[in-house]
Amino acid sequence: FNNFPGKRPPVYEGIPYVGGLIKFSKGPWKLLHDGYAKFGEVFTVPVAHKRVTFLIGPDVSPHFFKAGDDEMSQSEVYDFNVPTFGPGVVFDVEQKVRTEQFRMFTEALTKNRLKTYVPQFNKEAEEYFAKWGDEGIIDFKDEFSKLVTLTAARTLLGREVREQLFEQVADLLHGLDEGMVPISVFFPYLPIPVHRKRDRCRKELSNIFGKVIRHRRESGHREEDVLQQFIDARYQNVNGGRALTEEEITGLLIAVLFAGQHTSSITTSWTGIFMAANKEKAWLPAVEEQKAIVAKHGTSLSFEALSDMEVLHRNITEALRMHPPLLLVMRYAKKPFSVTASDGKTYVVPKGDIVAASPNFSHMLPQIFKNPEKYDPDRFAPPREEQNRPYSFIGFGAGRHACIGQNFAYLQIKSIWSVLLRNFEFELLDPVPDADYESMVIGPKSCRVKFTRRKLL
Ligand code: HEM
Repeated sequence: FNNFPGKRPPVYEGIPYVGGLIKFSKGPWKLLHDGYAKFGEVFTVPVAHKRVTFLIGPDVSPHFFKAGDDEMSQSEVYDFNVPTFGPGVVFDVEQKVRTEQFRMFTEALTKNRLKTYVPQFNKEAEEYFAKWGDEGIIDFKDEFSKLVTLTAARTLLGREVREQLFEQVADLLHGLDEGMVPISVFFPYLPIPVHRKRDRCRKELSNIFGKVIRHRRESGHREEDVLQQFIDARYQNVNGGRALTEEEITGLLIAVLFAGQHTSSITTSWTGIFMAANKEKAWLPAVEEQKAIVAKHGTSLSFEALSDMEVLHRNITEALRMHPPLLLVMRYAKKPFSVTASDGKTYVVPKGDIVAASPNFSHMLPQIFKNPEKYDPDRFAPPREEQNRPYSFIGFGAGRHACIGQNFAYLQIKSIWSVLLRNFEFELLDPVPDADYESMVIGPKSCRVKFTRRKLL
């Protein structure tokens, strides 16, 4: 069964069959912590009927991130998304079709495309914050979740959904979200109420998007959004070069939303929480940078102006280092492979293992990030540039399947924070919150923030 001889990674025993599953699905943070303390960078945890092998830190990660899909495969570990994304897309299709669909994502998010989305980011942010009063108390997490949903509706799903169907679509997407609970990862078709609701919502979304797509195709009406990119896209080497079906477009839109929406809104929140909590080191330099940007580019938040904001960029990166929203990235080992830890010990990970890397855990390794518990955006500036070692900063993944929406995310978050830095002051009324490790995409627990409108620029 395994013609690749060698020593297997140590197994974290002592977790009962079901206990492992519960511990895992409740958030594997402690499990990672204890396993790393006991065994170091490579260890295996039995979870229900499966084995999960953790690879922690840059020394043991290259194969995980670089290997081809025939060795390190995504579909076996991410196929729990199939009922949410729907049939015919991403993890429901064979590799060569998926590769073409990922090409379509990439083409919808090129620099030239992003330039057309930037004015939409700005418009949504300006309109949203114009509705805030002169002062008040908010929770960033709730505010940015709403704003990012509105912006995602506009830039990804299109004008029709944003302007005419927003409430209805937002409710249905919420139903999909609620249908993604930790147990769904292991049993996505379990007949529980949240899964049934998910399936109803998914069907209804098909109907709504189907109508929008048909209308655009029949009328020839075009827009600057990701939906239009998918309407125009064609397969190249598979499916006879045809265009996407309505069902496929719907599925790809949902997949992009799931990849980008909570991750972006959570990172927007942490960026604000940490900048507000670190006035001298973070907030004031970011305000100074806004002044310099206005002096250079004028008040318009163009693609070029946003791209020039290095201080804000480093704050976003540091927020993402401290709290990456995706706790684990996973693959399925289709072939055995060997891995050598930094102490020189070599292990063979057998075929059939689930293999996992953890952005959260890797970002807290003191040998890579000095004083990792400390918020310190300057760690990314020259000469330190602690992120430069390959596979050390993995908040957006790395290598073959690195995040396709990274630039989209930075531009959107910068657009939001530029508007806020120019128009408001913030004061945290609670201590910097902990992360809520029990949710699927990990964000901050509640934290009250006082805002005061004060036109700074
Ligand atoms: C992949 C994080 C925003 C689209 C990934 C991966 C991570 C990640 C860690 C790698 C997953 C893996 O290796 O299994 C984030 C974070 C974001 C963000 C932290 C925001 C701060 C976005 C946005 C979009 C997007 C806005 C789209 C508009 C994707 C896609 C992939 C991906 C399509 C799959 C790439 C592949 O498997 O080849 N993201 N993401 N992401 N992300 Fe993002």
